[in-house]
Amino acid sequence: MNTGVREPMVDFDHNSPEHSADTVASYRALRDKAPVAWTEAWGGYWVLSGYDPVFDAARDDDLFSSARHEDLGVTGQAITLPQKPMHIHLPIELDPPESQKYRSIMNKLITPRRVSTLMPMIEKYVDMFIDELIESGEADFSTLTGVPAIVTITWLGAPLKDWRRHAMFHRALLAEPVGSEGYRHAIEEELPYLTAQVKRTIAERRREPREDGISFVVNQKIDGREMTDEEAFGMIELLISGGVGTTASLTGQALVWLSEHPDQRELLRKNPEMMQTALEEFLRVFSPTQALSRTVMADTEFHGVKMRRGDRALLAWASANRDGADAGDSPDDVDITRSPNRHLAFGVGSHRCAGSHLARPMARTILSKIIERMPDYTVDLERTVRFSAQGVNTGYLSVPARFTPGEKVYPNESLSELERD
Ligand code: HEM
Repeated sequence: MNTGVREPMVDFDHNSPEHSADTVASYRALRDKAPVAWTEAWGGYWVLSGYDPVFDAARDDDLFSSARHEDLGVTGQAITLPQKPMHIHLPIELDPPESQKYRSIMNKLITPRRVSTLMPMIEKYVDMFIDELIESGEADFSTLTGVPAIVTITWLGAPLKDWRRHAMFHRALLAEPVGSEGYRHAIEEELPYLTAQVKRTIAERRREPREDGISFVVNQKIDGREMTDEEAFGMIELLISGGVGTTASLTGQALVWLSEHPDQRELLRKNPEMMQTALEEFLRVFSPTQALSRTVMADTEFHGVKMRRGDRALLAWASANRDGADAGDSPDDVDITRSPNRHLAFGVGSHRCAGSHLARPMARTILSKIIERMPDYTVDLERTVRFSAQGVNTGYLSVPARFTPGEKVYPNESLSELERD
């Protein structure tokens, strides 16, 4: 870490309870004061909260690196702050041109055309999830975390019997406080099991490929050679972890907002074609991935401040989303007809979300089907529980709701059956 004074200095910590209590107000105050500022929290880092600085930094991989740099003390996961001590995820923890080798494989795997073939599966799973809840008249909508988990597991071809364990693991990782029993269980017991299962599947698909995502990835070449099992794991694990919590966070927050705004919910029920545009606004205002980090690779002047090689920087997508041109004069209003809506909820630049083509239809299907099948649901706002910290991932741990009971679409099938070996 370089020593020396960095200016302007602010009192800010994206992982603090003060920030989590009202992230919108916290970022607004920061933008008003200094859209690029230094904080001493976590060993010191730059906070980029204005749209232009976030946009420019994310598009300059040479200056703002996503990779690990031992010489600069970045030995854990470089894109989180503080760095998490975990295995490497590809391509999100590499810079171009290295990252492009893996990213081009992902781009071939997740095209809109390929995703369209998954739609019947996505729709059926969403209906089966709602079936699990609909007869009782009350439910916790946070169980819908399971939808992106089961869809991703099915599509990739990892053992389907583990779908609920994947869902619970990612929910715990995002929502349980570090140090809690839930977090310990997830890291010490679930993670080794799920890692072993995915690694076993990778080895099996190399020997006997099937029509699934893991077979596709593991049989690709990097620089003309076979992809290693470790590389394949780094990609597959990122595809699972990148999509489960984020998509569930988006739908959870949107469902709460729609309960608070029944007129808007009714508008979307009567005009389902409006959901596409509404979803972009939900992405902008709820920004499931609030902020990710980079390492500054050279002494430089950036948007009026002096940065030094080795400095860490936090790119606050959520804050940029309330500052960009399309946010207009009313960035905090939720306008489900806002268009254009060039938000940064999926990031921007070479690492822009590789899964957005899948995230959008999953989230749209969940929201549309709940509105259609539970049109009068109300969330018990007093009993909702948010993640313990909102600095990186934001969302609800619990979304208790009531609704008029309805009928199952698949009365003879159940999600639990899929958990059998
Ligand atoms: C609402 C849902 C989602 C949100 C808000 C979201 C957000 C993001 C963001 C902000 C990034 C940029 C990371 C960076 O610049 O460092 C990203 C990257 C990524 N996301 Fe998503 N994501 C979502 C869903 C998904 C899904 C469903 C998948 C997988 C199927 C996925 C896979 C990835 C991958 C692989 C990357 C890394 C791309 C690269 O490094 O080139 N995401 N996502």
